[in-house]
Amino acid sequence: MMHYTKTSYLLLLLCSFTCTMCQTQAQQSYNPLWIPDTLAGPDFNLTLKDTFAQLIPKGNQTITAGINGKIWGPTLIMHKGETVHFNIQNKLNDSTTLHWHGFHLPAVMDGGPHQVIPPGTVWQPYWKVTNNAATYWYHPHLHEMTEEQITKGLGGLIIVRDEIESALALPRTYSVDDIPLVLTDRDFNSANQFVTVPYGDSMMVNGTLRAQHTVPAQVVRFRILNGAIERSYNIGFGDNRAFYVIGSDGGLLNAPVSVTRYLLHAGERIEILVNFGGQTGQSVDIKAFNSTLGNFVAGGENFSNGPFANYLGKKDFTMVHFNVGTATANPITTIPTVLTNNVLLNVADANITRKLTISDSAGVTNPPILGPNAFIINHKLFDINYNEYAVPLGNTEIWQITSSSIFGHPFHIHDVEFNIISVNGAAPAPAQAGWKDVVFIPGRTGGQNAVVKFIARFEDYADTLHPFMYHCHIALHEDEGMMGQFIVKDNAASATTEVDASADFALFPNPAQDRLFLRFNDPDMLAYYIRITDALGRTLYMLPQPDLHAGLDVSKLKAGVYNLECRDAKTKKSRTKRFVMGNNR
Ligand code: C2O
Ligand code: CU
Ligand code: CU
Repeated sequence: MMHYTKTSYLLLLLCSFTCTMCQTQAQQSYNPLWIPDTLAGPDFNLTLKDTFAQLIPKGNQTITAGINGKIWGPTLIMHKGETVHFNIQNKLNDSTTLHWHGFHLPAVMDGGPHQVIPPGTVWQPYWKVTNNAATYWYHPHLHEMTEEQITKGLGGLIIVRDEIESALALPRTYSVDDIPLVLTDRDFNSANQFVTVPYGDSMMVNGTLRAQHTVPAQVVRFRILNGAIERSYNIGFGDNRAFYVIGSDGGLLNAPVSVTRYLLHAGERIEILVNFGGQTGQSVDIKAFNSTLGNFVAGGENFSNGPFANYLGKKDFTMVHFNVGTATANPITTIPTVLTNNVLLNVADANITRKLTISDSAGVTNPPILGPNAFIINHKLFDINYNEYAVPLGNTEIWQITSSSIFGHPFHIHDVEFNIISVNGAAPAPAQAGWKDVVFIPGRTGGQNAVVKFIARFEDYADTLHPFMYHCHIALHEDEGMMGQFIVKDNAASATTEVDASADFALFPNPAQDRLFLRFNDPDMLAYYIRITDALGRTLYMLPQPDLHAGLDVSKLKAGVYNLECRDAKTKKSRTKRFVMGNNR
């Protein structure tokens, strides 16, 4: 779907020109770093909307999409062990999905390409949070539209808290000493509008161009997400100071890892500690040292023209300018030595090694990394109706990915957090030796294919109808078909039996009041999915595995005739019943 027409080539060239100029003119003028508000659960109301934001201080506002705001969305706070419930209202002009990146949850709640939310629809997923304390995120995942919808600004962070993390002496006052940094880059045209391209000319952190922020003179925690369409960021500080990685995608590391650079790929998160103690009055930049990246790492290329040309390619650039203020009361002043004790999966427990391949698609050889459908997994393009694997419920699996692609790809899998076993035979670097949901698969070098292995356990949530995804997290590649899907299958479950025709359900009261109740004739029947449509066939509510004990809340429906489709959990067969909302409620 993502093709470059001649006009967009032209636009791209024009705007890289204008933006280059505005970048040099405005070198010294910083904008205050925007920090998204937090939203506490366990009940969350999110509204996705097309809107505008003044991203460039002068001139037109930019057409954006936001969640409960003008761009991006609130940072959701969840606690391990609680059940979170969502009302997600799609007020966009387009269909979308919202995916809970990194979460272990039922596939039907996952928000991948199968859980499409049409415009005007409310989607109500819920799940019990079993993930470790870490930084996760949510973003649209509509097939062939992910790049465009993320570019418009849709997405948000999720902070999970748990008892282990809460017991540590770590900074955790959000926006004071615990600061989110969402790294992206965007391309603007001369009318200040976003252009949907893999690489932007302008760095944005939390949606802010040329951001600056005042940090307290103490140990500060940054939760960093690479939310870019394609670019990797080789993170470091202008004075080359050491910083301490304390967490990866899916949880804390056993101990802080001191580094001066960390290469973060699309979709990945790290949490770091930085000591600003005794530095009041000083300034330091957090930068991307991308001049040192190889040509086949996203952001390490330096195209002078074409659809991948961009101002930031193979350059070092500032992401946020930090000014050190004074310390807060009761500051954290030391870096802890121990964080947690991760019990990693054991290779000896693996039931199977699945062998996947990444390759450049045939026919696109010159130049090798241009053109649609340039990269594929297992020699095929994504097909939403095809499940590549049926993973037996409870399996511990090694996934071995062999890449003959010349380019590096951040590989992501839904449903699980995994442990990296090896990258080209070498054990993972200490900062990658914990829980991950994205792993960078390097490009083929010196005639040698890259081989990456990770191990994961597939517990809970067997579902033969809704699959989970695995894909490259470069949104352009994913949209072009670098994605596959698997189901988790409970082989021990009794073979599905036809439901007796009498195993039907009744709706009452009908005409309905504020709550609508379902009564199943077969007490074994369980609602897998309920969908409420209006007389015109528009989907108004999508209710995966709804709790029916208190009835469905239909109080927001106007007077009229509606259809309720209920899919049975066991047989996956559905039946539709009509109900009426009366005038006199
Ligand atoms: Cu963050 Cu399937 O994606
Ligand atoms: Cu994901
Ligand atoms: Cu890729």
